[in-house]
Amino acid sequence: MKTLTITRPDDWHLHVRNGAVLKTVMPHTARQFARAIIMPNLKPPVTTVAQALIYREEILAAVPADLDFTPLMTLYLTGSTTTAEIKKAAECEHIHAFKLYPAGATTNSDSGVADIKAIYPLLAAMERHDLPLLIHGEVTDDACDIFDRERVFIDTYLSDITRNFPGLRIVVEHVTTTEAVQFVLASTPNIAATITPQHLLFNRNAILAGGIKPHYYCLPIIKRESHRLALVEAATSGNPKFFLGTDSAPHLTSLKENACGCAGCYSAHAALELYAEAFERADALNKLEAFASFYGADFYRLPRNSGTVTLEKTAWKVPAVYGKNDLSITPLKANEELPWKLQ
Ligand code: NCD
Ligand code: DOR
Ligand code: ZN
Ligand code: ZN
Repeated sequence: MKTLTITRPDDWHLHVRNGAVLKTVMPHTARQFARAIIMPNLKPPVTTVAQALIYREEILAAVPADLDFTPLMTLYLTGSTTTAEIKKAAECEHIHAFKLYPAGATTNSDSGVADIKAIYPLLAAMERHDLPLLIHGEVTDDACDIFDRERVFIDTYLSDITRNFPGLRIVVEHVTTTEAVQFVLASTPNIAATITPQHLLFNRNAILAGGIKPHYYCLPIIKRESHRLALVEAATSGNPKFFLGTDSAPHLTSLKENACGCAGCYSAHAALELYAEAFERADALNKLEAFASFYGADFYRLPRNSGTVTLEKTAWKVPAVYGKNDLSITPLKANEELPWKLQ
């Protein structure tokens, strides 16, 4: 049987929520990944080091006892974040970045940043303390077409940020467009990007053709095929600026299958398998290990993992849901067969 063994990977962009959902999803991530960058968009958001340390304990308590998993915590940047908190975060071994959500851009972003120029003193402090900034790069302007929001964010804000803070390490999270790929490629080594499995595997027809498919709806929204091809090329290029970040974002099935469905694809149940499928289709399985296990760690200046995981070419069927009854979560590719299976 065909197998692929790689160094144990990390997920550089992950939502695990809290409470009952955390208990459902945490084992899925921990069986594949050694570490993950944990997104802070809880209700209320994780804005202080003290809150992040409490959240970290809750996450660790949800990791099955036989698995070894390290959550890498982040703080949610707001207009009220202080430079003192940035200093404290930089000095805390468990905090690895700040996350910038433009106010209103996505799930639980109400407390995000309304005036990006106004937080430049905070970006200066992060640059000084060498703490990476993770960006959900979409404008929130109602007048801007939802398919253009990433491109316009780059032109309106990101170019200016990178010009003003050349020493600031930035991850442009979940890139979805040719323009974002080109921007990252043209930038200094301080600018990198994560790419999700859904943006590598699907184009917008998956959401909109043959009936509306809410489980493919996430933000930034999946774009047309030409953009998907640019993302596949970036992910499989061997360029260390592009690395794995699932953006696995669990929402209850009832809140996705809804007149106003939440944004987010749940992919943690099969993340590595989904990436393997995308890389194999591009005839680039030999590029998966560095994308999944090397480049992210190098960017965050953390050691690469020891140990390995093995994927085998064995088809298996994704369940319809995970979790019980009214707490059920519908995974990406529910009820479908995946070609690769993690041993
Ligand atoms: C901090 C710094 O160097 O950035 N220094 C300090 O408090 N000694 C102040 C700050 O975080 O802005
Ligand atoms: O689709 C998304 N879901 N995009 C985000 O940026 C946030 C995420 C979530 O938290 O649900
Ligand atoms: Zn996001
Ligand atoms: Zn996210």
